[in-house]
Amino acid sequence: MCGIVGYIGNKVAIPILVDGLKKLEYRGYDSAGVAVLDHNEIIVSKSVGKLVALEEELGVNYSQSYIGIGHTRWATHGRPSKVNAHPHCDCGQDFVVVHNGIIENYLELKDKLIEKGHQFVSETDTEVLAHLVEDYYAGDLEEAVRNVLKTIHGSYAMVVLSRKDPDRLVAARKDSPMVVGLGDGEYFIASDITAILNYTRKVYILDDGEMVVITKDGVKISDFEGTPRTKDVFDVKWDAVAAEKGGYEHFMLKEIHEQPRALKDTMLGRLEEERIVLQEVDLTLEELAQINKVYIVACGTAWHAGLVGKTLIERWARLPVEVDIASEFRYRSPLVDEHTLVVVVSQSGETADTLAALREAKNQGARVVAVTNVVGSTVSREAHDVIFTWAGPEIAVASTKAYTTQLEGMVLLGLYLAQVKGTLSSKKIGEVISALKKIPAQAQEVLDQESLIKELAKSFVNVEDAFFIGRSLDWAVAMEGSLKLKEISYIHAEAYAAGELKHGTLALITENTPVIALATQRDVYDKTISNVKEVKARDARVIGLTYKGNTSLSKSVDHVIYIPETLDELSPILTVIPLQLLSYYVSVARGCDVDKPRNLAKSVTVE
Ligand code: AGP
Repeated sequence: MCGIVGYIGNKVAIPILVDGLKKLEYRGYDSAGVAVLDHNEIIVSKSVGKLVALEEELGVNYSQSYIGIGHTRWATHGRPSKVNAHPHCDCGQDFVVVHNGIIENYLELKDKLIEKGHQFVSETDTEVLAHLVEDYYAGDLEEAVRNVLKTIHGSYAMVVLSRKDPDRLVAARKDSPMVVGLGDGEYFIASDITAILNYTRKVYILDDGEMVVITKDGVKISDFEGTPRTKDVFDVKWDAVAAEKGGYEHFMLKEIHEQPRALKDTMLGRLEEERIVLQEVDLTLEELAQINKVYIVACGTAWHAGLVGKTLIERWARLPVEVDIASEFRYRSPLVDEHTLVVVVSQSGETADTLAALREAKNQGARVVAVTNVVGSTVSREAHDVIFTWAGPEIAVASTKAYTTQLEGMVLLGLYLAQVKGTLSSKKIGEVISALKKIPAQAQEVLDQESLIKELAKSFVNVEDAFFIGRSLDWAVAMEGSLKLKEISYIHAEAYAAGELKHGTLALITENTPVIALATQRDVYDKTISNVKEVKARDARVIGLTYKGNTSLSKSVDHVIYIPETLDELSPILTVIPLQLLSYYVSVARGCDVDKPRNLAKSVTVE
């Protein structure tokens, strides 16, 4: 997730662009840049790191141009560097582009453009857009951009500036947000309202499939075919801080709601009809044939994702998997050698314990695959292979969209290993892929139950203990649900394998003790119901969670939260969402600091 801005008007552009990018830094901050049109030359300034580095690069003698675009980056394709920073130009510096999103078919387009003689300088998907505009340009910038939009697949909010068409900005959006700010003789484009609140509170909120052409004389909106679109002006009532959270009260709630997009972005370019494509992983059949054991190593929520990964890899790829807490791994003399695959999972890619485990595994000859959300992070640079989750920056300490995209990473890796080893048929892989493609929309369906879950949360306000139970993959999600509740509401919560309760913990279940029972895994459903009845017999208050259409669970519990039907192997991605929302609303009701809970940090870079 990146931040883009554009300006055309009667003021010097660069200060406005930089100010806007500063407000968008929460969307990404590994590099930044601006481009302006000055005396018919495109002038580009870029820097690595936060905006302050760009300001130093610009100095005080910057261009006085009245038109420009800018970008602050969260890397997906191509590590953080000056050459990979946006804006990106074509061969002749006639066109310059900024982009937020992922161009799914950029590699094939790049190959075709190189065959036609285009020279590329970066590793990014975005640079393809600048060369495509150059390739299609035949005197009309708007027409050229329309042709580009017919050629690319993926998600984008893009803005194009050209010295061949000097007084206009042309922009388009699909699956990535974009707004147009309406000033007095000046106009703004931005990823979201945050960037332009200092200048105007009147905006058009663009929808998917819309293009906009902006000149000093005004704004023209159309669909990709050129049919004009009319828009109501949205009068912004938010303050700047609220705007950074997209109008949500906390980053955590915003990030919970970003999950459908994050899940969609993380599968972009990786799913064919019956085949997984992981460009960043080049485990060959010969190399995989040497692997006889897998370790998944991580901390906290990432470790919970590893618990799911274990089941998927063992079930699909038929490889034995051990899941280790990173801070324990290297002190227990793990049986690691050149026949071991070690998967490290880390949202930040900087967790000290996980990094130490990665280094220990490499020292002992293992092949290391990282699943991480930060391009250029230490974990991503030191692993042999990487599966990036494309969730965008996760600001709240409590991990949500990173977890569900880590689960997606486990699914992709499990299928990839099975595909390379031939332990799953193409047909079976195709079935899982088909179900996975439905997950983003199903996640949205779960989110649409927010008000019901908010109501349920009220009954937890004075609770002191809570228990999460489940079997198989439901147990792994129960672990995550328990962590979410305790880390942001400070309620003591525990997760148990449902079959394990009677071996001791059942002694803690008394009248009205809240128990959240996950009951999706079809092969152990009846057993789970028996365990639910055990706690009900002790007068616990039970909230059940199961697939829509299952009418039996409601007979055994006090409330039921339903999720859309999917494969049992994919259900953790959906079942965790109600638990995230429940924890969030309990935390808010108890007046806790949701985004920055006491004693915790977003990335634990100390052992
Ligand atoms: C989860 O909500 C916590 N923020 C924490 O457990 C986190 O998952 C853990 O510290 C690992 O962080 P990482 O994924 O950045 O390595």
